[in-house]
Amino acid sequence: MFTTIHKSKKINESGHAIYLFSSLKSINTKLFSKDELEYIKTQVEKNEQKTILINRLKQQVFVLLIDEKKEKHATVETVRAKGATILASIKSQKIAEINILNHSSEKLYSLALAEGLALANYQFLKYKTTKAKSATSLKKVNILDADVSEGQITELQHVIDATLFSRDLVNEPVSFLSAPQLSKEIEKLGKQSGFKVEVLSKAKIEALKMGGLLAVNKGSVQPPTFTILEWKPKNASNKKPIVLVGKGVVYDTGGYNIKVGTGMETMKCDMAGAAAVAGTLYAVAKNKLNVHVIGLIPATDNRVDSKAYVAGDVITMHSGKTVEVLNTDAEGRLILGDALSYAKKYNPELVIDLATLTGAAMAAIGKYGIVAMGNADDKIKNKLKESGNVVYERLAEFPFWEEYGDLIKSDIAEIKNLGGPYGGAITAGKFLEHFVDYPWMHFDIAGPAFLEANDAYRTKGGTGTGVRLLYHFLKNNSK
Ligand code: BES
Ligand code: ZN
Ligand code: ZN
Repeated sequence: MFTTIHKSKKINESGHAIYLFSSLKSINTKLFSKDELEYIKTQVEKNEQKTILINRLKQQVFVLLIDEKKEKHATVETVRAKGATILASIKSQKIAEINILNHSSEKLYSLALAEGLALANYQFLKYKTTKAKSATSLKKVNILDADVSEGQITELQHVIDATLFSRDLVNEPVSFLSAPQLSKEIEKLGKQSGFKVEVLSKAKIEALKMGGLLAVNKGSVQPPTFTILEWKPKNASNKKPIVLVGKGVVYDTGGYNIKVGTGMETMKCDMAGAAAVAGTLYAVAKNKLNVHVIGLIPATDNRVDSKAYVAGDVITMHSGKTVEVLNTDAEGRLILGDALSYAKKYNPELVIDLATLTGAAMAAIGKYGIVAMGNADDKIKNKLKESGNVVYERLAEFPFWEEYGDLIKSDIAEIKNLGGPYGGAITAGKFLEHFVDYPWMHFDIAGPAFLEANDAYRTKGGTGTGVRLLYHFLKNNSK
């Protein structure tokens, strides 16, 4: 656990505090001295400040006025982001414990603020030799809000922890996190939370004829793994499982179509889809959601070696379909194709895959959202989009017209793993579509999964994108 969140009834005099108010007018004047009220007023009216710090020497008090002019989801997101802004001050003053006192009209705000604080407070210190020196001061967040229950706080804590575990996995370099190690880490998460894990070995993957995963793995000294995660409550609300598939390329050099110039140094992030699936199962199991969920994670690195696959190769996938490899850097779709056809055996209600699949998705919408496409019906799509808005991991649905499929027809095999110069995120999706025969959505998270710099509570490096989104969606589905 990174930052712990608690429900609390009272605050001692020296307790550092964040007060939430809806407007200047609604400030409870008993809480502040005349001078302080005057100061707050000037800061708001003259300096247009929304976050005001009152330094009472022993006690630091932050006054946060929530601007409710935006629509609801955006307002809640502003409150989360304020958590990150206030955290900077908390850290510089070495504060270990902070109290949130909600005087606004909305109980969601205290949860959102706590969420923003805890997510922003994340650090990846495993490889720091001066851990104590580098560690953040904030350890504990207390929520003083009669409308917020213990249960809501515990649930939030589990989802935050899941997101941060997912970030940890993404931030781990390949020097530690090989495919077999990724599987081990998932086994650990399974033990901690209660979901079941089965790891298929290379021999089993060969027996299953997962030609895509095996081809990508040919240049590796480490064997591939195929990890199956399962959360199956006794009386699950869904008869057929929801299957989540995550791209687990633990490092993507591009292979013989090697990544030149910029880009390779961040490619430990190419298993962010896998990390999102593992994190989601952790959150679902910890919160004991009444929904049957299966996770599938094909994993390998993609490297150069005399044995590595090359452009021009033709491979036979798990489904039996043949693929002409025209670019060894378009490896994600090869391993996902195998996982998607493997998913058929579960007769799933819905399959969602998450993958850092294309630079094209990143180029199209940047870090601001998830590129989404698929054949699921509008009801499912709308539910997913709604969850995306609530947790602010928004979905941008791309066109998925048949004609894009023409761009991946091959002369010598059924399909090729490379489209044309345009619509790269979509042709990658069209490739995946060849391996599904059930309701399905594809989420390309290449943009938001890994950041070069902090973005409010989304910290630099792995962001854990997908965990909060899928958890929210699955929770809505389990009702
Ligand atoms: N892992 C990359 C995609 C990626 C790019 C992820 C940037 C995160 C940030 C993927 O395997 C890849 O290399 N895709 C190629 C496909 C192309 C060769 C068709 C790409 O997008 O350039
Ligand atoms: Zn690649
Ligand atoms: Zn890749």
